Amino acid sequence: MGSNSYIIVTGGAGYIGSHTVVELIHHGYNVIIIDNLCNSSYEAVARIEFLVRKSILFYDIDLRDEKQLSHVFSSHNIQGVIHFAALKAVGESTKIPLDYYDNNINGSITLLRVMGKHNVKTIVFSSSATVYGDATRFENMIPIPETCPNDPTNPYGKTKYTIENLIKDLHTSDRTWRGAILRYFNPIGAHPSGLIGEDPLDIPNNLLPYLAQVAIGRREKLYVFGNDYESHDGTPIRDYIHVVDLAKGHIAALDYMNNLKHDIGLYREWNLGTGKGSTVFDIYKAFCKTVGTELQYEVVGRRDGDVLNLTANPTRAKQELKWNAALNVEDACRDFWKWTTENPFGFRVDNYQWKLFN
Ligand code: NAD
Ligand code: WQD
Repeated sequence: MGSNSYIIVTGGAGYIGSHTVVELIHHGYNVIIIDNLCNSSYEAVARIEFLVRKSILFYDIDLRDEKQLSHVFSSHNIQGVIHFAALKAVGESTKIPLDYYDNNINGSITLLRVMGKHNVKTIVFSSSATVYGDATRFENMIPIPETCPNDPTNPYGKTKYTIENLIKDLHTSDRTWRGAILRYFNPIGAHPSGLIGEDPLDIPNNLLPYLAQVAIGRREKLYVFGNDYESHDGTPIRDYIHVVDLAKGHIAALDYMNNLKHDIGLYREWNLGTGKGSTVFDIYKAFCKTVGTELQYEVVGRRDGDVLNLTANPTRAKQELKWNAALNVEDACRDFWKWTTENPFGFRVDNYQWKLFN
């Protein structure tokens, strides 16, 4: 990597982006963050700077703003892009689909167009296991390989599917493009320092953030969405992956592309998961053990759109990227609990009020 060249991280102030920026800097990359802070806060960038003892170039730009985006590409020597910036809430995407299509797809088109104009043709894209839809509809697709046919069932998932295809078509049109598609399973946990983590602005949709808010008394109890699935305890199975392992997967993908011979392009999808499934109650028990209390829960009806099992077959990433998930669910619970207790209101100033009263 050239010492004066940068990796642009779109969405770098967000949950997965912030952890990836830390890993990039630890691996010697220079980073520029572009984020419009629509689901994050500048405090996350300040915390990263504190963690890595280095200042970071940050641009508060909406990806759909072609002029401002071009300005960043003209002002620096850019080596490649890791593209996290997106709206990501499945339920919300069913209510405001146009906003999701506009933000995620138009943001990506603008980014790819500006990259092409500046001859930056290396991109790592944040995709999701959600592109597979319900893989249990097939006989032999659990754990899920990258070859499992795609069938996203919600607008959010459809934007991911579409952007994957945009990158694929771009590579077909010009074989010098390099596109690494990373399909994340269920990211959980936080940085072990307790300085950065997931900070849902609203009521959390995801399991561990919700449980953590129950544990610190911000919510009364966990609602378990159904216990009549075909699993060992009746609750759905997911492949929960520690966010630091996930972040490292991006370095592995970048390194893989950097090691390709000059002028060789690429389009390839990789699952980033552990290959190990855990049920809702498995996670509940692991988190209660971390916290040292039996947290309250109530079983309610199934949540619309939930499927029985989303577990990755991570063999391709292991073999090709030499990447492996090293941390487990217990590590993720420990790190997420540290993050939560030290920042009960995430990156917001309310933390200070919380400390005053406790
Ligand atoms: P996040 O919301 O914490 O981070 C996304 C960041 O992108 C935010 O900081 C937001 O402000 C920024 N952003 C959104 N639209 C933008 C725009 N138009 N211009 C500039 N910045 C914009 O989400 P995350 O959990 O860190 O997810 C990162 C990526 O990974 C997303 O693409 C998401 O779809 C994907 N993903 C997430 C999960 C998950 O469970 N967290 C799972 C699979 C895939
Ligand atoms: C996990 C399990 C719930 C909350 C989502 C997106 C997916 C990807 C990752 C972006 C499920 C159960 C949850 C609660 C519960 N994101 N649950 N009570 O739905 O597997 O995946 O995040 O790409 O696209 O759909 O994750 O954390 O919401 O749920 O019982 O309050 O926990 O039913 O079985 P999910 P999750």
